[in-house]
Amino acid sequence: MNVYDSARMADVLAPLGYARVDGPEQADMIILNTCHIREKAAEKVYSELGRLRDLKQQRAAENPDAQPPILAVAGCVAQAEGAEMLARAPFLDIVFGPQTYHRLPEMIARAERATSQGWQGGGRNGGRGAGVLDTEFPVVTKFDHLSNAAASTGTMAGAGCSAFLTIQEGCDKFCTFCVVPYTRGAEFSRPGLAVLVECRGLVDAGVREVTLLGQNVNAYHGVAPNGGTWDLAELIVQLAKIEGLTRIRYTTSHPRDMNERLYAAHGDCDKLMPYMHLPAQSGSDRILAAMNRGYTATEYLSSVARLRQARPDIAISGDFIVGFPGESEADFEATMELVRAVNYAQAYSFKYSARPGTPAALLETQVPEDVRATRLQRLQTLLDSQQQAFNRQMVGRRICLLLDRRGRRPGQLVGRSPYMQAVHLNGPATMLGQLVDVDITAAHANSLAGQLVGQVLHGGPERATQSAPANVSGSMEQIV
Ligand code: 5AD
Ligand code: SF4
Repeated sequence: MNVYDSARMADVLAPLGYARVDGPEQADMIILNTCHIREKAAEKVYSELGRLRDLKQQRAAENPDAQPPILAVAGCVAQAEGAEMLARAPFLDIVFGPQTYHRLPEMIARAERATSQGWQGGGRNGGRGAGVLDTEFPVVTKFDHLSNAAASTGTMAGAGCSAFLTIQEGCDKFCTFCVVPYTRGAEFSRPGLAVLVECRGLVDAGVREVTLLGQNVNAYHGVAPNGGTWDLAELIVQLAKIEGLTRIRYTTSHPRDMNERLYAAHGDCDKLMPYMHLPAQSGSDRILAAMNRGYTATEYLSSVARLRQARPDIAISGDFIVGFPGESEADFEATMELVRAVNYAQAYSFKYSARPGTPAALLETQVPEDVRATRLQRLQTLLDSQQQAFNRQMVGRRICLLLDRRGRRPGQLVGRSPYMQAVHLNGPATMLGQLVDVDITAAHANSLAGQLVGQVLHGGPERATQSAPANVSGSMEQIV
C-alpha cells in the first residue's frame, strides 16, 4: 500500500514540476514513506533521518546559495508520532499521515514560506521546529482528489504492466497486536465506479495486471453505480469485463470476511489469479481469541478448503506471528500443525512486536526474546521447506508469465507466474509487458528458471495449462 501511496504522491507532485530522480543526492524534496507495523520498521525511520540530516547539511555547506532539499516524512510512523517527530527531528520540513497526501502542494507552499522567513543559508528549519504537520483524517477523502486526476491525465507514475490499486483502506477489526486501526483509521471502501475508472485508466496506460489493495480488502463494500453495494466478488466480476486487463489479484484478506460469492469468483473468473494471501497469524484457538481474530483454526482451514474446491490449483500464502503474549509451547505447536495441514506456497512470519497503544502490549505475559527467536526459526524452516517443494513441482510445467522487468544479467527478463513466483528467462526486451508461455526448467529457493515458448496471442484471460500442483491437491484432501 505504501508503494501505491508513493506513486499517488508522485502524481500529485508532477504538476508542480517534480519528477523522480535516482537518489536523495539529486533531490529537491525527499519524502520517507514509512511503516509502523512492527518496531523494526519504525526504528529504521529515525536512522534514515539521521543520514538525510547529514546530507542536507552537507549540501548546504557545499552550496550555501542554493536552498537545501525539503525533507518530509509520510505514512504511518508520521501519523503515530506527529508533533513528537517534529520535536525529535527539528530539521524536518513536513510530517504528514497516510490520509492527507493530496494536500501536499499546500504543505509544500507552507514549508517554502517558513523557509523564506527563516532560511539564511544555514539550512531550512534551522532548529526552529517550524515544520508543517498534517495528520488529520479529512472528511473528504484523498481518493476524491486523486483518482480522477490520475485517470484522466494518464500520468500515473510508475505505471508499468502491473499496478496496485487501493480499493479499501483502514480497519475496524482491532486485532490486539496491531496498530493499523489507529494509524490508517476506520474502514473505508471506494465507490465501485471510481475503482472501475481508475482501473480503465491504468489499462489504457498499458497495465495488464492489477492488484487490488486494502488492509481488509475482502471487507470491501463500495457504493455501486445503481446506488446499491458491490462486495469484492462483484467488483472483481465488473473489473474482469475491462478488455485488455488480463490478471486480477487482491490483498490482504481477513479470514472472517470470506464469503460464498468470493469463493465462487475464484472458480468462475479466469482473470482472477490462483493465489490467495490469507493471514492465519496462529493455529491456536486460545491465541486466536486473545488476538481478537474472530475465527478458530478449524474455520481457517475450512476457508482454505473452500478456496481449493473452487480453484484446485490455488496457491495459499499466509502471515504468522510467533510469541504473542501468553503463547505456550502447545500453542506454538498448534501453529506448526496448521501450517502442515495447509501446505503453504509462500508465507511471511514475524516475531511478535509490542506496539505502543495496542492492548497486547500491556499484557504481562510477554514471551522472552530467545523463545520468540527459536520459534520463529522453527516455523520458518517448515515454511521454507513447503515453499521449496511448491517451487520444485513447477519444473516441467508450462505456464503463462507476465514479463514485468529486466533481469540483472544482459538479455534476461523476469516475469511473475500465476502463483506469484518470479521466473527468470532469456528473451528480447521487446517482450516486456507481454504475456508469454514458458516451460519451467529449474526451481530455486525464491525463484524459478524458464524457457520461452512464445507469446500468448489470445490477449484474454490466462487459463491453467496443467492440473493442480501435486502438493497442493494432496493437502486439500487432508483438510476436506
Ligand atoms: N508484531 C508482529 N507482527 C505483526 N503484524 C502486525 N502487527 C504485528 C506485531 N505487532 C504482522 C501480521 C500482519 C502483517 C502485516 O504484519 O502478521 O498480517
Ligand atoms: Fe491489523 Fe487485524 Fe486490521 Fe489486519 S485485521 S489490519 S491485523 S487490526
